[in-house]
Amino acid sequence: MISAATKRLLKDTGARVPVVCGPMYPGSNPELVAAVSDAGGFGVVQPIALTRLYGHDYREGLRLIKSLTDKPFGVNITILPKTAASAKYAKMNEMFADIAIEEGVEFLLTSLGKPNDIVEKAHANGVKVYHDVHNAKLAKLAYEAGVDGLNLLNSSMGGQTGAHTAEEIIAAVKPLVPDDFPLMCAGGVATKKQLNHLQDLGYAGAQLGTRFLATHEANVTDAYKQAIVKASSSDIVWTNKLAGTNSSVINTPMVSEGGLRTNALVSFLLRTPATKALTRLYLLQGALEKYDQAAFDPEIQYWQAGKGVDGIHDVLGCNEVINEFE
Ligand SMILES: Cc1cc2nc3c(=O)[nH]c(=O)nc-3n(C[C@H](O)[C@H](O)[C@H](O)COP(=O)(O)O)c2cc1C
Repeated sequence: MISAATKRLLKDTGARVPVVCGPMYPGSNPELVAAVSDAGGFGVVQPIALTRLYGHDYREGLRLIKSLTDKPFGVNITILPKTAASAKYAKMNEMFADIAIEEGVEFLLTSLGKPNDIVEKAHANGVKVYHDVHNAKLAKLAYEAGVDGLNLLNSSMGGQTGAHTAEEIIAAVKPLVPDDFPLMCAGGVATKKQLNHLQDLGYAGAQLGTRFLATHEANVTDAYKQAIVKASSSDIVWTNKLAGTNSSVINTPMVSEGGLRTNALVSFLLRTPATKALTRLYLLQGALEKYDQAAFDPEIQYWQAGKGVDGIHDVLGCNEVINEFE
């Protein structure tokens, strides 16, 4: 039987199946976002991937997705502090949210920061907000800020990863929210069997990334897709060398050669309050450049992926992926 929380997730997203394709840099090309929603799941735009990586004007990119599907899709908004180091990016993300709302997007998935202001603006416009969290403390704060659902990031996910397992984080968060409040599981999901297990634990649905990279519609190299198909979860390692925080990647020679951890000086700069934000920004800039190359050049093997690789055996169409979750 479908739970009240799953019903809310389906209503909030307009999806038929409680499977969301999370924002990915690289990977969230507009064709992928549209294909997931069109198939009955729910695609989420990564604005920087849409613009910087895939070369679309942001508003025109949203319009392109609307031209490819009449189904709803969401947009990921990163909430950044308005400090000197990140003021420019904070403003840019506010603009991404405003334009998404103007273009009729009815679902924002927010990351980092406090979602209070964006919830107020979104709700005034009939837009739902789900917020990414990786622990119970942040979940409580986001719930109190009035978000409509939470995306619980776990330690099996591809990209920048959480620290707790899917089981640990829902055990800590579920008691803090009403029973029908939608909690999504982000990390390690690639099969219907896994989704069923998560729903038994109380999750409303799942956000997938890695599974959707290995689809015909994802705009990354075939080498990247095949590496996901061939990898097993023991090939997935964490490194903080790329972005300054732990990213989950396939352990290719290119990743392992330089070591998986930042050197002593960078670690010190990342720990020191006065230099932390700028160091992270600098590393993140470098990571984006590597991910840009990895998206289009098969020789550049900085391939982010999660432990769900164990359940991925073929490159499929988004329709086939979604149908497997019916
Ligand atoms: C290649 C890749 C890039 C990602 N980039 C982002 C990102 O830019 N922003 C974000 O919020 N999440 C990002 N994620 C996380 C996904 O949105 C999603 O939560 C995650 O992939 C789910 O775990 P899974 O990969 O095990 O399915 C990324 C994941 C991958 C695999």
